[in-house]
Amino acid sequence: MANFDFTRRLRTVSDKDLDKLKANFLDLAEQFDASTMGDHLLFPLEMTWFYGEPIWHELSEEKKLMLNRLTFCQNNYTTAVAEVCSNVLNFRASLDTIIDEDTDVALYMAREAVEETAHVQTFLTVVRKVLGYYGLTLEDLRASNQSIKLSRHYVNMHTVVGWLRGDLNFYYFTRYALNVNQKTVERCTINEPRMHPIVRQILRNHAIDEARHMQMSRGAGKVALDRMKNPIVRTVACLAYAQFASRVFLGRHKKDNRYTRESRTRLLELCGVPRERAQQAYLEWRDRVNQPEDCELVRAGRAYCLKCNHSYIDDLEIPDWLKRSMKRIVAGGYADVARPGGPTSVRPLEFEDLTRAA
Ligand SMILES: [Fe+2]
Ligand SMILES: [Fe+2]
Repeated sequence: MANFDFTRRLRTVSDKDLDKLKANFLDLAEQFDASTMGDHLLFPLEMTWFYGEPIWHELSEEKKLMLNRLTFCQNNYTTAVAEVCSNVLNFRASLDTIIDEDTDVALYMAREAVEETAHVQTFLTVVRKVLGYYGLTLEDLRASNQSIKLSRHYVNMHTVVGWLRGDLNFYYFTRYALNVNQKTVERCTINEPRMHPIVRQILRNHAIDEARHMQMSRGAGKVALDRMKNPIVRTVACLAYAQFASRVFLGRHKKDNRYTRESRTRLLELCGVPRERAQQAYLEWRDRVNQPEDCELVRAGRAYCLKCNHSYIDDLEIPDWLKRSMKRIVAGGYADVARPGGPTSVRPLEFEDLTRAA
């Protein structure tokens, strides 16, 4: 039977990193000076929103750089918000665990919240500095970021479901899809040749922590499913996971929603594009009017997300028909890279393991 014993190993690693939390994150964020950005990027060039579209070519070189950096700001502000969400739910899970179960496991759940808090502070510090360079404030960015509203729904939904069920199994079972998406974008950012060196180092340190959080998601997801004894509940949870995973994406996505549409449109407006032109550019981008296929990096990244989801599904102890249904649902959002019968039609990205500098 799946259990939380694996968290002891994760906690040992986390214990070692704890002393360096300030040096690995907060000090680097303080050190970052936006006036040193020069020609450096802050986000993978080809993953920059609207990259290669007519609107991209209408922008001056300066504005292209700005769009790339503001895409980073929007992405990492959203990540910071998502990490606060996971803190709320991790602490809630920790409360149940410290009262009813293993107190050491409860401590590891709470430890992730300590790490996420350092990550959030780091991201906000860097994002504020980048915005300041362009004469913008976090308020401007926040006003343009509509997708963060979804985070409130996410926490409220898991809180209500957790309260009704008496546990947070649904949360832990579905968290993995978010980790996969975040990992893919972050690892591509680290690998971007023109990345600013300090921001690259911060993201590298973050990716190492998040690789452990991802192990927690996978391990906890299996325990959570194991604890759902009712087969109907298990089936609903699996189908809900697949629906959720099919809507978590990078680049352009079939299941894009009005919140992400508005965030992307308003980001162009922050770069000085008139609203009408920005709205038109968004629709053409989403509907693949000018570039039916994504560039290689984006396709391989999307294929990687799909592959990771397949591997998570394959790992679950559920009937084969349910695995097939889950894969079909996830592929529904990823039609551009999915292949019937197999995971993907293009070669997914491959990432080597990251380790801390000695
Ligand atoms: Fe984090
Ligand atoms: Fe995390």
